[in-house]
This record gives sequence, C-alpha cells and structure tokens, in this order.
Amino acid sequence: MQLSPLQSRLAASVIASCLVLLLYLALFSPQFALAAELDIIPTAYDAAELAYERDDEVETSGPVDLRSPKYDPGFALFDRGIIGRVADNVVTLENNQLETSNLVPGGIMTFVFQASSVSSRGVEDSKDSVELRRSLSDSEESPVDEFENEDITSEPELERRQQATKTLWISANTCEQPWPASPAQTTVEPPQLTLYVSTSTDNTSPGPLADANSQKETTFTQGAVMFNVSVNRDIYFSVSAPNVSSENFDTTKQYNFRLVASLDQYYYSYDTKADDDLIWVDSDARAALLQTKYLTNSSDQEISTLPYVIFAHNRENVMINGIRNSYCGLSNYAQIRNLEDGSSGQVTMGLKKSGAQNLTKQEFYVTGLNASSNYIGILARAPVESTSAQKRQVDNSTIGGGIVFQPTTFDTKPDGPCTFIFNLTLCDETQYAVPGNSSNFPNGTELAKFYEGYTQTMWDNFDKVMQQVPCETSSTAKYSLARDCADCKTAYKNWLCSVAVPRCEDFSTPDRKYLQMRNINATFANGSKVDKSLLSNYGHLKAYTSSRNPQIDEVVQPGPYKELLPCQDLCYELVQSCPASMGFTCPRPDSEFGFNTSYGLKLGSSLSCNYPGSAHYPSSGSTLSVSFFGLAYSIGMLFVLLL
Ligand SMILES: *[C@@H]1O[C@H](CO)[C@@H](O)[C@H](O)[C@H]1NC(C)=O
Ligand SMILES: *[C@@H]1O[C@H](CO)[C@@H](O)[C@H](O)[C@H]1NC(C)=O
Ligand SMILES: *[C@@H]1O[C@H](CO)[C@@H](O)[C@H](O)[C@H]1NC(C)=O
Ligand SMILES: *[C@@H]1O[C@H](CO)[C@@H](O)[C@H](O)[C@H]1NC(C)=O
Ligand SMILES: *[C@@H]1O[C@H](CO)[C@@H](O)[C@H](O)[C@H]1NC(C)=O
Ligand SMILES: *[C@@H]1O[C@H](CO)[C@@H](O)[C@H](O)[C@H]1NC(C)=O
Ligand SMILES: *[C@@H]1O[C@H](CO)[C@@H](O)[C@H](O)[C@H]1NC(C)=O
Ligand SMILES: *[C@@H]1O[C@H](CO)[C@@H](O)[C@H](O)[C@H]1NC(C)=O
Ligand SMILES: *[C@@H]1O[C@H](CO)[C@@H](O)[C@H](O)[C@H]1NC(C)=O
Ligand SMILES: *[C@@H]1O[C@H](CO)[C@@H](O)[C@H](O)[C@H]1NC(C)=O
Ligand SMILES: *[C@@H]1O[C@H](CO)[C@@H](O)[C@H](O)[C@H]1NC(C)=O
Ligand SMILES: *[C@@H]1O[C@H](CO)[C@@H](O)[C@H](O)[C@H]1NC(C)=O
Repeated sequence: MQLSPLQSRLAASVIASCLVLLLYLALFSPQFALAAELDIIPTAYDAAELAYERDDEVETSGPVDLRSPKYDPGFALFDRGIIGRVADNVVTLENNQLETSNLVPGGIMTFVFQASSVSSRGVEDSKDSVELRRSLSDSEESPVDEFENEDITSEPELERRQQATKTLWISANTCEQPWPASPAQTTVEPPQLTLYVSTSTDNTSPGPLADANSQKETTFTQGAVMFNVSVNRDIYFSVSAPNVSSENFDTTKQYNFRLVASLDQYYYSYDTKADDDLIWVDSDARAALLQTKYLTNSSDQEISTLPYVIFAHNRENVMINGIRNSYCGLSNYAQIRNLEDGSSGQVTMGLKKSGAQNLTKQEFYVTGLNASSNYIGILARAPVESTSAQKRQVDNSTIGGGIVFQPTTFDTKPDGPCTFIFNLTLCDETQYAVPGNSSNFPNGTELAKFYEGYTQTMWDNFDKVMQQVPCETSSTAKYSLARDCADCKTAYKNWLCSVAVPRCEDFSTPDRKYLQMRNINATFANGSKVDKSLLSNYGHLKAYTSSRNPQIDEVVQPGPYKELLPCQDLCYELVQSCPASMGFTCPRPDSEFGFNTSYGLKLGSSLSCNYPGSAHYPSSGSTLSVSFFGLAYSIGMLFVLLL
C-alpha cells in the first residue's frame, strides 16, 4: 500500500504521540497510585484537629510534601472555608441540645451543626472500630510506630463509612404563635414557620432570600417539622417566621419555637397517619374515658411506667389551631393537658389489663368537660429531656422520642341521667354511661356501687345453680364435650354485665334502630314529660315504660332514657355455653316484640350494640378487642340458621 506524503506524515505523528504517551505512563504512573492512597488518609484524624493541623501546615511550612503523613488534600470532607469561621449570627448546636428561641414575624434564626462533632463522637463511641483497630495492631508482628500503624490498618476507611451513614435528625415545635386579633377571628390559622436546610458550603445562611437550589425548604405542619439529612459536612439550617397580617393577628406576639438536632432520633415527631391510636370509650356530660390500643403482645409483658399523655381541647376553641402536631404548643395551650408540675390535672391515667388475653392498655379519664360539646383528644408521648436522661444515667440515645398522634374526636352528652361509671369488680370491663340520678347518687362512684351490688347478687344466684352442674366429672358425664363450666361462667358474666348494666344515651339522642327508649312514662328531672305522641304509641308497651332491670326504675329513678342494646351474640354464646338444664333461651329474631327491644346487631361500622369492652371503634369489626367476639358472632349466626 502506497501512502501519500500527507498520509505518511500523519502516520509518523500518530506513532510519535503514542510513544510519548507510553513514556509518560512509564515515568509518572506511581503518582496515580499515590493519589488513590491519599484519599483515605485524612479521615484518620479528628476533624477539628485536622483543621488546626492543616492551618499550621499551610502557614508555617513551605511547599507541601505529598508523602508527609500530615498532608491534607483539598478534597477533604471538611471544607477549609467553613471550619473555625462560623458567622456571629449563627448558633452552633450540639447533639441533642434543646434550643429555645423567640422569633418576630418576618425574622429568621440560623443554626449550624458541625460535622466535626460527629467525628469526635464517632471515635469515642464506636467500640467496634476501636476493637478492630486493636486486634489488627495485635496481629502485627513487629511493634510499629503508632502513626504508621494507623496508616497500615483499614481503620480510617471503616470510620469514614461510619461517618457517611450518620444521620442528623432535625425536629422543631412551635411553642407560641401570634394570637387571633379577636376571638371572632376563627377561620384563619396563624401562618406556619419554615425550616431551611443547606448542606452547601456556598449557602451558609439558608432562608427565603437564598438560592432555592442550594437548600431544602420545609414548612411546619401544624406547628411541627421533621427533617433528616446525612452528616458528611456541616449542616446549616434556619427557622424563618412568616410575615403576619395585622388584620387577623396580634402581631406584637412573637413566635417561639424549640429545636433539637440529634444524631439518635427525632426529639419531637408527629404521626402522619390517622390510625386511631386513641379510642373514645364513652362519656357523660362532664367526663370522658379514652384509651390506647393494646400496648403489649402477651399477658406476661409488663409495663411499669405510663407511656403516654393526653391533650384535650374544645373543637369550638381556636387556641390550638396551627399547633396540633406540636407537643410544646399543646403543652402551652390545650385546655386539658399535663400541668407543669408533672401532675395530670383533670386527667386520671392508668394501665388496665383487659380482653381474653389480658393485654395492657393505657386509659385516660378526663373530667371538667362541658356538656353537649365536641372535643378533640390528642395522644402524645413526651420527649425524654436531656437533663433527665443524664440524671437517670441512661443512654443518651433515649433522649427525645417525643411523638404527637393524630387527633380523635369525642363528644359529651347533654346534662341528663346518663352517668359514666367504671372500676367495677365483677363487671371489670363495664366502663360506660349508665342511667343515673344526681339526687339519689351524687357521683359515679356511688352509682357504681348500686350496679355492683345488683350484678353481684345475680352472680351469686347463678353460682349456686352452677354448683349443681357436674363440672369436674369425667368427660362422659359432662353436659357438653365442646363447652365446660368455665365457658359457661364467662358467657354468663359477659351477658349479665351487658344486660343488667344498660349503656345509656340521653333521651334527646336521635332515634336509631339499636337505641331502645326506656322508662318513658316517668318525668324528666325538670318535671316535664316525653312527647304525647310517643306516650300514646308506646305507653302500653313494657319494653318502653320500664328498664329491663326493674330496680333501676325503683331505686335509681333516672327518668326517660335510651339504651344501647346488648349484642345478640352475648345471648347465643350464653345459650350454647351453659347446660340446657339452666334454661337460658334467646328471643327469636322474628319474634314480634322481644328481640328488637332486647338485643342489637353488630353492624359494619359504628357502635351499634353493647358488649364488654365496647368503645367507639371507628371501624368496629377489625378492632373489636378480642377474637372471642368474632368467633361468637359466627357461631351465633349458625345458631340462627339452625333454628
Ligand atoms: C428522611 O428524609 C427522607 C427524604 O428527605 C424521607 O423520605 C424519609 O421519610 C425521612 N425519614 C424519616 C424517618 O423521617
Ligand atoms: C416580610 O416583609 C418584609 C417587608 O415587607 C420583606 O422585606 C420580607 O422579605 C418579608 N419576609 C418574608 C418571609 O416574606
Ligand atoms: C407486637 O407485635 C408486633 C408485630 O409482631 C410488633 O410490631 C410490635 O412491636 C409488638 N409490640 C410489643 C409491645 O412488643
Ligand atoms: C388474666 O388475668 C386474670 C386475673 O389476673 C387471670 O385469672 C386469667 O387467667 C388471665 N388470663 C390469661 C389468658 O392470662
Ligand atoms: C366550657 O365552656 C365555657 C363557656 O363557654 C368555656 O369558657 C370553657 O373554655 C369550656 N371548657 C371546656 C373544657 O370546654
Ligand atoms: C450524655 O451526654 C452528656 C453531654 O451531652 C454527657 O455528659 C454524658 O456523659 C452522656 N452520657 C452517656 C451515657 O453517654
Ligand atoms: C377502683 O376501685 C378500687 C377499689 O375497688 C380503688 O382502690 C381505686 O382507687 C379505684 N380506682 C379509681 C380510679 O377510682
Ligand atoms: C361521691 O359521693 C360520696 C357521697 O356524697 C362522697 O363521699 C365521695 O367523696 C364522692 N366521691 C367523689 C369521687 O366525688
Ligand atoms: C331523682 O331522684 C329524686 C329523689 O328521689 C326524684 O325526686 C327525682 O324525680 C329523680 N329524678 C328523675 C329525673 O327522675
Ligand atoms: C326538660 O328536659 C328534657 C330532657 O332533658 C328536655 O327535652 C325538655 O325540653 C325540658 N323541658 C323544659 C320545659 O325545659
Ligand atoms: C304510661 O302512660 C300511658 C299514657 O299516659 C298509659 O296509657 C300507660 O298505662 C302508662 N303505663 C304505665 C306502665 O304506667
Ligand atoms: C325488628 O327489626 C327488624 C330489622 O330492623 C325489622 O325488619 C322488624 O320489622 C322489626 N320487628 C319489629 C317487631 O319491630
């Protein structure tokens, strides 16, 4: 092949270039390898130390020796421009330090969390990496200079990985906010604070005026904010207060917030899902009982301290609008709350084991409520304060962990006969409003004694009959192979407690199929009578003119009321569990009068019949306290079919 003069010149220059390149590689390749090694050296030092060493180095010595162990390359994790040069108006935060600040509307407050505080902590706290270093140096045959040793082991890289995965949990709560200018101003909520976070060295004062691309902006939600970011460099963040319209708000009132940056967990958090963590059991005109879900998975799990607190607030009142996710804000402004001195004021709290499996719940008995009012209840866990954590010598990682759950609504009944009772001995799951009369029984404790006495008498009679039943005999002599005397006793107790202690609703409650009018011929406390048309329609029916338990009308004298009927499965369960000789029967569902005025049916949603442990479960079926009832229900249905 012949090459033109031009082509041969090109070929010559290509070959020459290749040779030059080869020569270059052969001569300079060691430097490439050195650069890769250097990458891991700097992280072996504490970052703060590193900064000073580096400054010394730069100022005192001349040209930097690449091989010197003290060399600090420009691509270190910690930018030279930041360290030791925190601006005056920036507050430096330590891990788990609670920072409280006022902020005028339109104002801003900037913080920095220095990556150096992670590094020193990582070295102190990380037993693993220390142990690893020891074992590696032990295996080293010849004793070596400590410095070299560190270079040889893989420890620096370990530590670097650890640092890179450390997360900073920033959380804040609005404690105070501008108040409405007038009580009539109920529609506009105070505007929320905003958190700006920057990890860019170019943006050391994040805020509404800084470049939006170099920062993350998170507006508080109902007075709370949560933000997590990995700490591989200094984190700058600001809390900015919005401008507030003086038309709607008293702008002389400042914002006040609390902020914590933690390497362990959020100090303040809130639950974003409304999954019914707080359940309204029942209420009367002045008080309500609320409870948590089960806190344990088995009966032998013991809880010694009360894990939660509760806030309650009238829904008409606007003082907690805009701070419903803020533990701090609720502590300041919720009408019913834990008091500063640690006492719970209008709330009595306790733990209760209940259900077939004896699982634990926390209960809150809230008093001092207004009649016929709507409330929200908010379940919360107080954050563990750093001071108390240190006092009790506990691990610092338990600091924080505060959480505010989504609100639950509940109502109080009108002033009337329905009175809340609880803490009965036999009917230990009876906790609801029952027919009462404040002249005869001034408070729930007194009224509970009446119902306790009545159910105990019934139970004693049943127990006498039970003693005639061959319980402890061989299986052939037993009354049933499937059920024993314990089943019968449980079924009777559940039935008795629901039937003899009626669950009361005020007479003014709108009619529902499962609400049965009782005692309608009696007079109300104010001396008036029920509507004439009702009397003429139902006045001749015993189910309407008396209570199921006649002693209620005679002794308590509650006046007219409505009863939430017991669930029919309680009756079927009783009939099936007890010997036929005891003669229990249930009214047939198609009986003309009897079933509809005696028992209610479990409907898909809402509280449609009464059973031990019943509550205003938002979607009944799934949350019914015990599987026992699900089972009983299906057997009950089978029984109906067989009839
Ligand atoms: C951490 O932040 C990321 C996005 O910034 C978010 O998706 C994640 O849910 C946060 N983690 C927690 C536990 O809040
Ligand atoms: C608040 O108003 C002032 C003056 O009108 C303005 O300079 C500032 O940017 C505003 N701040 C915010 C956060 O909107
Ligand atoms: C109960 O079990 C569930 C699922 O197994 C678990 O998520 C939960 O943490 C357990 N609760 C307690 C208190 O042990
Ligand atoms: C529940 O507790 C009661 C009394 O403390 C006990 O008699 C019963 O056996 C327990 N039930 C279970 C399932 O542990
Ligand atoms: C009860 O009603 C009064 C008068 O309306 C009100 O001032 C008070 O805040 C209410 N209290 C609660 C706990 O709802
Ligand atoms: C917790 O942190 C404090 C300072 O923030 C420190 O004095 C204390 O020793 C730490 N306690 C533990 C158990 O780490
Ligand atoms: C419940 O009753 C017991 C005695 O039966 C009493 O000691 C206890 O104080 C009562 N609890 C409440 C909350 O009233
Ligand atoms: C209930 O009333 C009785 C009798 O008047 C009284 O002795 C008792 O202290 C009251 N209990 C409460 C909790 O108010
Ligand atoms: C409550 O009891 C008193 C005294 O026994 C009685 O006069 C009054 O009528 C009763 N109240 C109602 C609503 O029946
Ligand atoms: C008396 O009380 C009943 C029930 O609380 C109520 O419906 C009725 O309107 C009252 N009557 C008068 C005259 O206040
Ligand atoms: C209830 O009142 C109605 C109408 O006033 C009357 O016909 C009926 O006999 C009364 N019933 C009882 C049990 O007193
Ligand atoms: C009982 O209730 C059922 C279902 O609501 C209804 O169909 C039936 O007519 C009622 N019976 C009587 C006697 O009211």
